[in-house]
Amino acid sequence: MTEKLEAVLKEDRVFEPSAAFKEAARLNDPAQYEAMYRQSLDDPEAFWGKVASELHWFKPWERVLEWQAPNARWFVGAQTNITYNALDRNLASRRTKAAIVFEGEPGDNQVLTYHDLHREVCKFANVLKGLGVKKGDRVTIYLPMIPEVAIAMLACARIGAIHSVVFGGFSASALADRIKDAQASVLVTADGGWRRGSVVPLKNNADEALAEAPSIKSVVVVRRTGEDISMQPGRDHWYHELMQNASDQCPAEPMDSEDPLFILYTSGSTGKPKGVLHTIGGYQTYTYLTAKYIFDLQEQDTYFCTADVGWITGHSYVVYGILLNGATTVMYEGAPNWPDPGRIWQLIDKHGVSILYTAPTAIRAFMKAGEQWPLKYRLSSLRLLGTVGEPINPEAWMWYYNVIGKGRCPIVDTWWQTETGGIMITTLPGVHAMKPGHAGKPFFGIAPEIVDSSGQPISNPDEGGHLIIRRPWPAMLRTVWGDPQRYVNQYWSQYPGNYFTGDGARRDAEGYYLIMGRVDDVLNVSGHRLGTMEVESALVSHPAVAESAVVGKPDPIKGEAIVAFVTLKAGHTNLEALKNELKAHVVKVIGAIARPDEIRFTDALPKTRSGKIMRRLLRQIAAGETDIKGDTSTLEDRSVVEKLKAGE
Ligand code: WT7
Repeated sequence: MTEKLEAVLKEDRVFEPSAAFKEAARLNDPAQYEAMYRQSLDDPEAFWGKVASELHWFKPWERVLEWQAPNARWFVGAQTNITYNALDRNLASRRTKAAIVFEGEPGDNQVLTYHDLHREVCKFANVLKGLGVKKGDRVTIYLPMIPEVAIAMLACARIGAIHSVVFGGFSASALADRIKDAQASVLVTADGGWRRGSVVPLKNNADEALAEAPSIKSVVVVRRTGEDISMQPGRDHWYHELMQNASDQCPAEPMDSEDPLFILYTSGSTGKPKGVLHTIGGYQTYTYLTAKYIFDLQEQDTYFCTADVGWITGHSYVVYGILLNGATTVMYEGAPNWPDPGRIWQLIDKHGVSILYTAPTAIRAFMKAGEQWPLKYRLSSLRLLGTVGEPINPEAWMWYYNVIGKGRCPIVDTWWQTETGGIMITTLPGVHAMKPGHAGKPFFGIAPEIVDSSGQPISNPDEGGHLIIRRPWPAMLRTVWGDPQRYVNQYWSQYPGNYFTGDGARRDAEGYYLIMGRVDDVLNVSGHRLGTMEVESALVSHPAVAESAVVGKPDPIKGEAIVAFVTLKAGHTNLEALKNELKAHVVKVIGAIARPDEIRFTDALPKTRSGKIMRRLLRQIAAGETDIKGDTSTLEDRSVVEKLKAGE
């Protein structure tokens, strides 16, 4: 952990939000934050009950919270529908306000008002019903970042179906695994999507996946790129044809607060990706409040989050949290640097974006491309910036602050996870001073703690430890789909009664948290989570590979790069061509995000006498360290390390 820390450039300055920002902000008084935070912990039921009553419930709750670790039930007995709150509730005062401003990669552009979005969602909800989808059924969504992805999610939620969005960059086999795990009956996809001027062949991938995933009975295909694709009669339907005759009347189904809203797959330290399950009432309440205060959403804002809806950031802060606040969300289909590195800045200029939420890896790539790109555009509409996905190095923070925010815009460095559903640690933009590299303070209702490996709290400022959360919060995951034991083991067993995040962190004397990164075998590549085991099992599924060990190596743009150490089966030789073949194989099995940056062939992997791969050594070797630190006494064969260092 300390090595990771040292890699973070130091920046000791503290930045206050500007007087102008503070004055207009929803929250701008540190004493008020303290009082609200204290109340949220002293009387969580009163606090969250009051927040929830800003939303619509068909039937009120009997109790705000029932907590029997590790099982939480929020707004017990209540009935609601998140689309009623995201859509219907906004019709009265925001009917003609833009809900979604869409920009395709080729530059095509579409605006859906709240009225339009409500109508399209109702229609597609009826389409799903027509295909036999019922409450509790799973619908897999494999779409590019086009309005239909939000329409499909909301249509599921409208009728109580559980959506499972699979990122469009995942391969056919990754899609098949996720469909099978969820036993989805309907797949919503597109003929293709635009990415860096080429077409991502979504329908072709889907066809390949469906050969292995027989639970899918119907496929709905959005026409996006006009690709020539094959349509299987009886199974495959065009979206626009089904929509043509669909009724636009579809009242929101009253759902129990604890009914599932969606499954989202994420990588863990062992085995296959897990289906994180979120439920309706708590998730809507928490994403509503976090979006409102952390992005300081106000009536005239145009908010733009660059994340894909295939990740939790897209669920909570492209779609749900933003629409729940009646705000305008910008959706962009393609790559941020296509056709040139100025694309994001051009979009901000074109649409008058006031709040930008993106990832450190993107900021570092923009930085590398040079400030001439943002300087070409008018960025004066911006008033608030956000970052998420991995620790931000102070150098990138300063660039974001000065070059993009011109020193005017506060930055919120938001720490959270797929499992947490919403932002957990951040500064509040009008309240707190910012410390580059530090995420900041806990949000309302969040009780973080830093503990040593025996679970003892670490109270010394700036001493690193494991980050745990002491109490339940409304948007916490409820289980791992189909594997309740994994839910308990993964999150609640290491520190019984507390949620274990898998991250290391430290806290300074003023209560600011600094996240140091994962302490398990999870990589963070360009803000995306990948299990080392996942990449390893993809590699060993290739006929030439005997064994592999995958580690991360610090990378100036991606945060971590993937280095795979591979031993070959007899008869295969260490050839450059085979390295490329193995990289392509991993892309085929998982998707381009998992492509190893480096493959290193070796005769043997460093193992302990009990046969455990010593990843710590491999991490040091991958990072090019010549002086291998730490205990190597358990190593079975010392010469393996010398050979690996020599690149043999
Ligand atoms: C992991 C969660 C939910 C956001 C997108 C990623 C890392 C996330 C930060 C941050 C330092 C961060 C953590 C976390 N992470 N945000 N602001 N500072 N680290 O969601 O794929 O579930 O990954 O991302 O390591 O555990 P995810």
